[in-house]
Amino acid sequence: MTIREKVGQMTQITLDVILEGEVYNATLPHRLNQNYLKKAIQEYRIGSILNTPGIPLSLKEWLALISDIQTVAIKKTRLGIPVLYGIDAIHGVSYTVDATLFPQQINMAASGNLDLVKAAAAITAYETRASAIPWNFSPVLDVCRHPLWPRLWETFGEDTHLATKMGLAMLEGYQGQQIDHPYKVAACLKHFLGYGMPLSGKDRTPAWIPERYMRAYFLPPFEAAVKAGAASIMVNSGEMNGIPVHANKKILTDLLRDELGFDGLLVTDWEDIKYLHSRHRVASSHKEAVKIAIEAGIDMSMVPDDLSFADHLIELVEEGAISEQRLDQSVERILNLKQRLGILEHPVVKAQTDYQLFASEQHSQFSLDLARESIVLLKNEKGILPLSKDSSVLVSGFSGNAMQYLNGGWTSTWQGDQADHFIKNKKTIQAAIKDKIGAAQVQFVEGCRFDQLTDLERALAAAANCDHIILCLGEKTYTEFHGNIDDLNLPDAQLEFAEQMIATGKPVHLVLLQGRPRLISSIAEKVASIICAFLPGNEGGIALADILFGDCNPSAKLPITYPKHAHGLVAYDYKHSEASSIQGSRSCYDPLFEFGEGLSYTTFEYSDLVLSANQIEMTDVLEVNIKIKNTGSRKGKEIVQLYLRDEYASITPSVRVLKAFKKVDLAPQEECLLTFNLDQKDLSFVGHNNEWVCEAGIFTVMLGDQKAIFELKNPV
Ligand code: BGC
Repeated sequence: MTIREKVGQMTQITLDVILEGEVYNATLPHRLNQNYLKKAIQEYRIGSILNTPGIPLSLKEWLALISDIQTVAIKKTRLGIPVLYGIDAIHGVSYTVDATLFPQQINMAASGNLDLVKAAAAITAYETRASAIPWNFSPVLDVCRHPLWPRLWETFGEDTHLATKMGLAMLEGYQGQQIDHPYKVAACLKHFLGYGMPLSGKDRTPAWIPERYMRAYFLPPFEAAVKAGAASIMVNSGEMNGIPVHANKKILTDLLRDELGFDGLLVTDWEDIKYLHSRHRVASSHKEAVKIAIEAGIDMSMVPDDLSFADHLIELVEEGAISEQRLDQSVERILNLKQRLGILEHPVVKAQTDYQLFASEQHSQFSLDLARESIVLLKNEKGILPLSKDSSVLVSGFSGNAMQYLNGGWTSTWQGDQADHFIKNKKTIQAAIKDKIGAAQVQFVEGCRFDQLTDLERALAAAANCDHIILCLGEKTYTEFHGNIDDLNLPDAQLEFAEQMIATGKPVHLVLLQGRPRLISSIAEKVASIICAFLPGNEGGIALADILFGDCNPSAKLPITYPKHAHGLVAYDYKHSEASSIQGSRSCYDPLFEFGEGLSYTTFEYSDLVLSANQIEMTDVLEVNIKIKNTGSRKGKEIVQLYLRDEYASITPSVRVLKAFKKVDLAPQEECLLTFNLDQKDLSFVGHNNEWVCEAGIFTVMLGDQKAIFELKNPV
């Protein structure tokens, strides 16, 4: 391969660059511009393309578009290497018309159901391949440790163990055994590393993460997914400890390649090489930025909207600043992935493969099942829920009658705010409730928008004539930095509207559609029930109606800590010094709802916590046995969570850390015995030398209200 051909493989552009019209303002219906296509593929030999023309395409349109691109790549270039097409199919292949859309990752985490999460990812892989796209920029394995961060909902929440298990399930669903299978795709883990805790809470702003915490909280999900064979990784756009991650050789090469042994493809995030110059200012020119990022270890640059990366890299090689061998390493990984995906033989879709299940009933049933299990019931005063189907209800609030608030960002378009234009055949909350109890018993009055009261008088009048008020509040749709906020409080207009509804004296059921925990402390006591639905996806309206009226028993648990105070943002695994009050001072940890909280319409009793030993050696595996009984009168699912506390350690231990979880399904009065195994890694922490260590001492195991202690003995 020539230098130009190699550099071309390392270049990824956004589709807009080769469409008719202006970049980011393609003429619709989209059409490939033959001159731009020729320039990008024949002249520059670019190896990869991402994105949509700004709107979702039908399956047929995707096939035609990708065939046209591949025809040029195969027939009109010397080497005939197909282009690797990538997309953000993060909750279903959301840029394909009518695709099955699932709850977002934060909901998946809340469901605690690894099988359903894997199934959702497998369906997404199927529908992505059906769209002729073999590469998915998902899952997000960032652990979110700052509730303001606008990408919280794209993550599995604040806990490392939960994120690791969920990430592995999703990865398996996407990749299966063989990524050349016509129903599988290459996953792309994002965003390596340390993206989930910007100090300011704003997207792509500096994080300060000491190595110990980086290894303890942020690395494990990536490490596990690399070990499980993840095909590609995307780099974090932000900076950690003053070094933009795209410029950090220690992270991208020493840690990722040498220590974790990752041999897949490493792609930059959007425009991030340019940003080393223009935003981060660690490079005095774009060309220097290219040199820094290549030296740090990236394989492919998501440029994305011009071909300048290629020009600079060719110059750098010709000047001897970057060696051709360095290019070879990256090109080998890129070609390897193309080969593993089977696109060298089948550049569009594998012949004779049918995708009849695309957007099928069967697929949406999985989405509904996952939505039902992902909605968290946080308050149910005097067991007021479920409501009787004879009740008359007022559904109010802006999120009660739109698909966009159920789905959030990355839906139909990047920001997700046009979802209602594209998704016509799915049910909003009010439509689903009408279906369930009959339109005559349901009124919908918006009452308030995100930050503005609208028809308050009408809402009050309607409230006077109903038995219950279902108040649907929350957030607008947003993606990435467009979701930056300065304040976690719900906007005043929403709180005011809630107060007005509460003042009617009718029981108010607060339903929150939101990507992060907006503060509701002033109204939480006054409403009859609280449901945090997060972003439950296309079937979320039906799932909510099922929960409100008792056709589904909720079983989700919070994958984040729900703050009570605007500045009380301490996570569940806080340190003892954050809890104990010093001379009467207030505790730092005072959430409205805790990580792991979530109610059911039945009750579960935990008993008979038995450990296989009271003392163990470092190499032993401890068995933890527990009995769970459904003591209520309804069938229900329970996420059984095992927490561990290391009582004393040379690095300050947390009050509790989640080490394992299992979801069980129990009929009324049914009981089951569960066994968990704890090994040395579960008892370890990242010690003084930034390595995982295990220290002798006393540990406490906690499951529900049960506790037991054991001792880990020093080696003799
Ligand atoms: C986001 C990534 C995404 C990429 C491609 C970026 O702005 O940070 O998560 O995969 O765009 O769309």
